[in-house]
Amino acid sequence: MKKQVVQILFKALQKINANLKEDEIGNLVEVPPKQEMGDFAFPCFPLAKQLKINPHEVALKIREKIGNTPKGFSDVRTQGPYVNFFLDRKVLALDLINEIKTQGDNYGKSDFGKGKTILVEFSSPNIAKPFGIGHLRSTIIGNSLANIAEANGFKTVRLNYLGDWGTQFGKLITAYNHFVDKKKFKADPLKHLFELYVKINKSKKYEEESRYWFNQLEQGNKTALELWEKFKSLSLKDFEKTYSLLGVKFDVFSGESMYNKEMKDVVAQLQNKKILKEDQGAQIVDLNEFGLGIALIKKSDGSTLYMTRDLAAAISRKSKYNFDYMIYEVGQEQKLHFAQVFKILELMGYSWAKNCIHVEHGLYLDKDGKKFATRKGKTIFMNNVLEKTKELSEKEIKKRDKKISKKNLNERSLKVAIAAIFYGDLKNNRKNDAIFDLKKFVSFDGDTGPYLLYSYARANSITKKSKNPFSQFVVESLDQKETELILKLNEFPSIVLKAYESLNPSVIANYSFQLAQTFNEFYHACPVLKSKNENFRLALVESFKQVLKNSLNLLGIETINEM
Ligand code: ARG
Repeated sequence: MKKQVVQILFKALQKINANLKEDEIGNLVEVPPKQEMGDFAFPCFPLAKQLKINPHEVALKIREKIGNTPKGFSDVRTQGPYVNFFLDRKVLALDLINEIKTQGDNYGKSDFGKGKTILVEFSSPNIAKPFGIGHLRSTIIGNSLANIAEANGFKTVRLNYLGDWGTQFGKLITAYNHFVDKKKFKADPLKHLFELYVKINKSKKYEEESRYWFNQLEQGNKTALELWEKFKSLSLKDFEKTYSLLGVKFDVFSGESMYNKEMKDVVAQLQNKKILKEDQGAQIVDLNEFGLGIALIKKSDGSTLYMTRDLAAAISRKSKYNFDYMIYEVGQEQKLHFAQVFKILELMGYSWAKNCIHVEHGLYLDKDGKKFATRKGKTIFMNNVLEKTKELSEKEIKKRDKKISKKNLNERSLKVAIAAIFYGDLKNNRKNDAIFDLKKFVSFDGDTGPYLLYSYARANSITKKSKNPFSQFVVESLDQKETELILKLNEFPSIVLKAYESLNPSVIANYSFQLAQTFNEFYHACPVLKSKNENFRLALVESFKQVLKNSLNLLGIETINEM
């Protein structure tokens, strides 16, 4: 139906000499927040600027040129700076269900980013450290953002930037040399490495030696490199296991260690452009005039830094992927760091720096509202989180399905657990801190992932009784709850676009919840099977299933047929 609205507007706009292309109009058309404002609205502000007349007058002119109320609409009228379109609900119901049926998994997608490439960097855990819940947030949000960008037509590159270089490896080598317990290392290498890391961080005694070893690593010392390789491959194996359980995929695994050569180049460029300054033996960029403090590029002992590596990585990615936008999904505690990276790139003359975006997220907080502390070893390991959530899910599932087989229980509980964790995160605006409360996440009632899966399964239990839920139907009359469900389904494409524009998956998550609620109200008010409108209602339920599935898939959540 949106297409019709766009076409009507396109014709009317030509008559008043306003040049907007169809896809530009499509991007402007919105679904108003209130039903009194119609089913679609066209805001006239941008045109008002172009035509140099006030927006209300533009709206009136457009309305005049549209003429008689077009077929499929019950009314078209202006309200202030808007032209509001009221659909004939019966026509809408028919068209919409057909559209959902033909588009299937593609319903909701747009061409907004067609021909453009977006690089989404996310997850980026540090090797030789456990995959903690801090990186889980980036994994969940970044994965969803990449899905959303892709659904809006962008070519998407999913990139994982491993923390596999830096002074901490000097520490780790030193700790390993002094304290390794071979037995423990063999039994659970990552856990033991983390113990070593915590131990060495407790004393200042080994700082000198740690610096030495990182320096050796940067110089290419063979012993140092061998140990580092060992740590890295152990970690990667573990991370890959986690990603595969979570169903998260990457196009590229890169890492901080990859830019040793390029870093020299970066330093040279900075020197040539006279951006680099010496400060007590170290090399710095002074960004005080931009309110961004001082960025350290090279330490006095010659070793490079996180900053230097990020500069080199960004430049190399631009030349490799020629992205139009690059997103870094990283916690907000690195806000200053990224502001500095982007500023320095700009000072170096890279105009694309303005297309780099730090998409930040808040912290996960413990149930008591306090921070999780990593340094002291009081960290939460991802593997344990998943195990525990699975156990909680199993309990809930068994309550409802006592005869479930072991194999089914195992598969279902993993999917429920992922829905619980992913949705528990994504329902929050990513910029806010989020309470990490697994028990709440797993609940089958309320604003949770399992509730959404349950709604899907419930809809499925209706449609599975029919051979062809999308069979021929007529729309004779519409109940209130049917209308509400239709309007909600109709909103989905504009939600997908909005989620991209705000780079915020919570737009999709919140929509999913509203959709499920609207469906559940419909389900209670309107019997489906054996009702007079059985065919129409079956098609409506099937449409709901399709849209909820599409919506949850954008969040990285898979639906299940039974629960
Ligand atoms: N590995 C880093 C950390 O755990 C995050 C990397 C973020 N990305 C970047 N390009 N700096 O803190």
